[in-house]
Amino acid sequence: EKGGYDYFMLKEIAEQPKAVADTLLGRIDGSGRLTLDEVRIEQSALREIDKIVIVACGTAFHAGMIAKYAIEHWTRVPCEVELASEFRYRDPILDQRSLVVAISQSGETMDTLMALRHAREQGSKVLAICNTNGSTIPRESDAVLYTHAGPEVAVASTKAFLTQLVACYLVALYLGQVRGTKWGDEIYTVIRELSDISKQVDQVLETMEPVRELARSLKDKDTVLFLGRHVGYPVALEGALKLKELAYMHAEGFAAGELKHGPIALIEEDLPVVVVVPSPRGRSVLHDKIVSNIQEIRARGARTIVIAEEGDEAVVPYADHLIRIPATPTLLQPLVATVPLQVFACELATARGNEVDQPRNLAKSVTVE
Ligand code: M6R
Repeated sequence: EKGGYDYFMLKEIAEQPKAVADTLLGRIDGSGRLTLDEVRIEQSALREIDKIVIVACGTAFHAGMIAKYAIEHWTRVPCEVELASEFRYRDPILDQRSLVVAISQSGETMDTLMALRHAREQGSKVLAICNTNGSTIPRESDAVLYTHAGPEVAVASTKAFLTQLVACYLVALYLGQVRGTKWGDEIYTVIRELSDISKQVDQVLETMEPVRELARSLKDKDTVLFLGRHVGYPVALEGALKLKELAYMHAEGFAAGELKHGPIALIEEDLPVVVVVPSPRGRSVLHDKIVSNIQEIRARGARTIVIAEEGDEAVVPYADHLIRIPATPTLLQPLVATVPLQVFACELATARGNEVDQPRNLAKSVTVE
């Protein structure tokens, strides 16, 4: 069942190149137009939408945080992302012109289900992004986009996350297409870039031995911090969540720009800090700022573990450990940058003798509020 792997999680990490390709399958017609037939919400209604609210929990919430960048950039519709467990308790402002996007691997998460029920009571349309056919969340939504990742057995979500991201990018592009903020050629370019991701993830997977070795060397540490910026910020949060649930270590993710507003006080000699570096091409200002952050924490003793694009030489002098990822467009970087963090957490858990597929105290789907 585990296909020769020691754990389902390892199998599911390895399945990611195929999973992301499967999410794209059948959703683009011969002329490069997106055909999301499953989105059974009238195009006229989609044109009327004045706000998008994403609700989700855990890893799916991190996918939502990343989706916000793509949605706002490509559609110019304001987008909020909220933990499903917080959402309905604060009396959110919703009406017929709000589109609520519920992201859930299992489709059974009670917090997310309650949030979408609340949204529908307010007259909002709900679109589910889900991996489990026929589960409760898609059944109670107006429309569903399935991620087609195949069954995810390990409690720690891996391939579901990557495919949720792909599905979110598709939704963002589709809204852009319907609303006319994104045109044929532009959409086609992103689709091509998304189609390339599968082999880039494969490339990352082939170079993971040094990451595993590094993880083993950190097995007696108490804390690991993660820093990122822009779409790298949710990636940092996801890296920290993986480490908490699998290695039972104290792990925290921060927006790198927040360092000087508090977290930098945590830096001490030999503290491992993982930094997700944005591409030096795209938004190069952010790149340069993060390079100075790396310098700052290293000067205070941090052991820097830097995830940076191939060819980014500016980080080399400040990286105690350098993990290379292929160059991607800025918005798509999370699809490759998350993979080393999954491998890192899985290996650390193994080195600490933890049960990888069934971490203590956790369930695969959380069906209570
Ligand atoms: O099935 P869902 O996507 O709704 O689950 C949401 C979270 O419970 C889930 O992502 C959880 O955080 C994972 N264990 C993370 O690896």
